[in-house]
Amino acid sequence: MKLTFLGHACFLLETEKANILFDPFISGNVLAQNVDIDSLKVDYVLLSHGHEDHVLDAARIVNANDATLVSNYEIAMWFNNKQGVQKVHPMNHGGSKEFSFGKVKMTNAVHSSVLPDGTYGGNPAGFILNIDGKTIYYAGDTALTMDMKLIGEFDRPDIAILPIGDNFTMGIEDAVRAAEFVQTENVIAMHFDTFPYIDTDKEMAIDSFKSAGKELTILNIQQTIEI
Ligand code: NI
Ligand code: MN
Repeated sequence: MKLTFLGHACFLLETEKANILFDPFISGNVLAQNVDIDSLKVDYVLLSHGHEDHVLDAARIVNANDATLVSNYEIAMWFNNKQGVQKVHPMNHGGSKEFSFGKVKMTNAVHSSVLPDGTYGGNPAGFILNIDGKTIYYAGDTALTMDMKLIGEFDRPDIAILPIGDNFTMGIEDAVRAAEFVQTENVIAMHFDTFPYIDTDKEMAIDSFKSAGKELTILNIQQTIEI
């Protein structure tokens, strides 16, 4: 599998059977201005919650690719009814579903969620994906939460994609604790540096994880790694 960082909380995961895009916020992200949105090849778009910095380019990308939008019920219906997105798959917390590429489970996140026009966006979420024998946890925007211990008990992700930027989500210290709670050694950072509120000392972040015996990977925008 290949994972590409597209800025903020947006990642493209290319698997054997499908390409999965998380939380596209590209056209509004000055740091991601070199990303060519229209060249993205996407089969599924997963949205963690309704905030603009997670859903801004979702309709454009889903429709251009005839892809399927996967999110909570409220967000899926908003895209279906208000944004002209034909293929939506609504889920809700605790629910799992087998897709063509593998299994997706919607997990709890402690945050807020409203859609860009003020429509109620349900509750914020994260995702656990089981694909080709690998478990990937995409936390979404969240505080550190005791619920993460359930993930550590039952899922033990090979990789966790965690917010580290503080202010709107957990910061470095709590992200290290989150990695401990979910029992992973490998963390990929998201939700840092995009806005002044979340400017992040990346060296300190890497060192903090190292001190806890964990590896934090901070990708450059458009950098791809094999996972
Ligand atoms: Ni948010
Ligand atoms: Mn956010």
